[in-house]
Amino acid sequence: MPIVKTSKLITIERHITEEGAMHPDATGEFSHLLRDFTLAMRILARDVRRAGLNDVLGQTDGTNIHGERVKRLDIHANDVIFRAMDHGGHLCVMASEEADGMIAIPDEYRKGKYVLVFDPLDGSSNIDVNVTIGTIFSIYKRVDPSLNTPGTLEDCLQHGWKQVAAGYAMYGSSTQLVYSSGNGVDVFTFDPTIGEFLLTYEKIRIPKRGKIYSVNSGNAHKWPQGVRDYVTHLLKPSDDGIRPYSLRYVGTMVADIHRTLHYGGIFMYPGDTSMPDGKLRLVYEVNPMAFLIEQAGGRASDGVKRVLDIKPTSLHQHIPCFMGSEEDVLEVEEFLRAASSE
Ligand code: AHG
Ligand code: MN
Ligand code: MN
Repeated sequence: MPIVKTSKLITIERHITEEGAMHPDATGEFSHLLRDFTLAMRILARDVRRAGLNDVLGQTDGTNIHGERVKRLDIHANDVIFRAMDHGGHLCVMASEEADGMIAIPDEYRKGKYVLVFDPLDGSSNIDVNVTIGTIFSIYKRVDPSLNTPGTLEDCLQHGWKQVAAGYAMYGSSTQLVYSSGNGVDVFTFDPTIGEFLLTYEKIRIPKRGKIYSVNSGNAHKWPQGVRDYVTHLLKPSDDGIRPYSLRYVGTMVADIHRTLHYGGIFMYPGDTSMPDGKLRLVYEVNPMAFLIEQAGGRASDGVKRVLDIKPTSLHQHIPCFMGSEEDVLEVEEFLRAASSE
C-alpha cells in the first residue's frame, strides 16, 4: 500500500496535543515531555549539519580530530538531550548508550513518572562520510507511577511492550522525526525556515512482504547456518520474480529501518560466532525500533521470540534482531528453526 503523504499542515506539537487528548488520563505531562525532546532534536539537526561544515572549515588531519569529533558528536548529542530533558519534571531517570549506568535527574528537579532511554547518535561511524545518522528514543512510565523518588534500574529495564512511545530522528537529506505513541507511526519533516516539524506521512503501514534485505554481509562467514540458508534462498531467482531480493545496507540502523518501514523487506543483525547476541542493544536500539515496526504492521523478533516480550536484564545488553515485513521475518524464523532442528 503506498505511503500516503498528508496535506494537513500540522506541527508535531499540535499532533502530540491532539493525540494526548485521546488518552482519558492525559495530564499534558507526556505532551510536554515530547515537546522538550523535539527541542533537543532541533538543536541536534542543526549541530549535525554544522559538524560537517566544521569538518570542512577545520582542514585538519581527519583521523585524530575526526575520532575526537565522532566522540564529541556522540557525547555532544548525549549532553544536548540531557540538558533538554533533566529539568522538565517529567522524568524520574534516563539511560543512554553513552552512559555506563543510569542517568539520575539532578536532586533539585522534580521527579516525574516517565523514563527516557536513548541512543543519542546512531550510526556514528558514518558521520565522517556525511552518511545519514540519527537519534533513537523510547519512553516508559515508571514501574510505580505514584512515586516521586529517583527512578531505578528496574524502571529502565521494562519489557518493550510497555513502551508508551518510541521513535527516531533521522539527520539525512532532510531531518525527519518518526514516532509512535501506540496509535500508529507518523512522520514529521523539519522545516528549518520556520523551525517546526511538520506532519508529512500519517499512520505508515509496512508492506506485508518486501524485496529488500538489509544486513552486513561481511559477517556472513560467522552467521548461524539458518541465516546463511535464508540469504541463499533470497538470492535464488523465483518464477514469480519476487526473488532475488536486493541488498541495501547503510550501516546506520535508523536509516535502514526507515527504508524498511517505507519499502518493506527485512533488516537483520544476527548473532554470530564473534558476537553471539549480535551488535545492537535491546533497550535503546532494538526495542524502540521493534515498537515502531509493530505499530506499522510488521514483525520484530530475535529469530525466535517477539522482541517486545523479552525482559531486559542489563542496560547495554545486545540482542540478535530480525525486523520488517511480517512475511519476511516469519520466513527467516522458519529457516532458523529448520537449521536448528537438523
Ligand atoms: P551506534 O553508532 O549508536 O553505535 O550504532 C551503530 C549500529 C547501528 O546504527 C548499525 O545498524 C550498526 O551499528 C552497523 O554495524 P556494522 O558496522 O557492524 O554493520
Ligand atoms: Mn546505535
Ligand atoms: Mn550511538
